[in-house]
Amino acid sequence: MTKVEVSASKAYQVLVGAGLLDQAGERVRAVTKAETAVVVAGDRVAPLYGERAAASLRAAGFRVLLHRIPHGESAKSLAGYGALLGFLAENRVHRGDVLIALGGGVTGDLTGFAASTYQRGMDFVQIPTTLLAAVDSSVGGKTAIDLPTGKNQVGTFYQPALVLCDPETLDTLPEEEFRCGCAEVIKYGVLGDARFFGSLAQTPIREQLEQVITHCVEMKRDIVAQDEYDRGLRQLLNLGHSVGHAVEACSGFTVLHGQAVAVGMAVITRAAYEKGLCFRNTLDALLEMLERYRLPTRTDYGLEELSAAMLADKKLSGGLLRLIVPREIGQCDIVPTPVEELRGWLRAGGIR
Ligand SMILES: NC(=O)c1ccc[n+]([C@@H]2O[C@H](COP(=O)([O-])OP(=O)(O)OC[C@H]3O[C@@H](n4cnc5c(N)ncnc54)[C@H](O)[C@@H]3O)[C@@H](O)[C@H]2O)c1
Ligand SMILES: [Zn+2]
Repeated sequence: MTKVEVSASKAYQVLVGAGLLDQAGERVRAVTKAETAVVVAGDRVAPLYGERAAASLRAAGFRVLLHRIPHGESAKSLAGYGALLGFLAENRVHRGDVLIALGGGVTGDLTGFAASTYQRGMDFVQIPTTLLAAVDSSVGGKTAIDLPTGKNQVGTFYQPALVLCDPETLDTLPEEEFRCGCAEVIKYGVLGDARFFGSLAQTPIREQLEQVITHCVEMKRDIVAQDEYDRGLRQLLNLGHSVGHAVEACSGFTVLHGQAVAVGMAVITRAAYEKGLCFRNTLDALLEMLERYRLPTRTDYGLEELSAAMLADKKLSGGLLRLIVPREIGQCDIVPTPVEELRGWLRAGGIR
């Protein structure tokens, strides 16, 4: 097992290791005096891991309640939030109790948002069961729900009390979802660590899960420690995401997030090469890595559609887009880009 200490507005540990799911009770007990633990899980994850988590929590003396949510992004809605709050109130859960998010990023974002607002805030624990949640969404304290007008429009910065990541739970993850997580892992290599990036070519991510997750969490921890509230440095984590979000939106969210991020990283790196901001070997290394993990590097959406979707994105401020641009593998720059230059970037990135 490995341990990463996060120090943000709240200090907490991220534990990564096989067997942690069945130790959830004692591990959660170590961080809370709560009587009741409410496990929130999706309808795919609950049958797989809900009872194991619950049994462990019961054995540690918690009253355990399970709140099931639908799988998929639709759970992260005002209605899903309302249903969770209603469940907590009906069961007389109070702020001294603890919520446990057992699942992917959807479950974590919704549960974290409810924990940060119910009775003005209560503890919550993340037990990520997707690779994306393990390396990204479970750490760093961003919580959110969606509005009909857009994703993650309502949320808080609210750190968990503990993150327990049992890589064995990833065994049941559909292959496509696993690959999406790989896109985020590759992202960490490109934005901050060439050696780590190289190791992903040497050994498949699946064969070094504990180390890979730990390394990504450490990288995210270091960024969050410097910029918890996303005012500068944390934007580096958006590498591939400006174009990626646009691809997701254009597809009506049929292109999965990780696939879209892969396309986004490829487009921005192609543009960087065309503009003389990085060498050819940087672009080639990225494309080779994405192909190795069977992630897409191109999109059929055109210049008009993509630029319109990008301009509709909430991350635009003062007429400037903040593009994250690789200089080499392991080094990226935040490039404030006037809106008028966006099409030029996309064209250079191979979008027609
Ligand atoms: N808070 C953050 O910092 C942050 C960062 C990145 C993404 N996000 C959010 O995370 C969400 C995406 O998360 P995700 O990719 O984990 O998707 P997800 O939570 O929808 O999970 C993907 C699918 O896998 C299933 N699943 C989960 N674990 C499983 C397992 N172990 N075995 C079998 N099936 C399993 C789920 O039921 C779901 O159908 C988005 O809403 C995104 O906005 C948040
Ligand atoms: Zn992402």
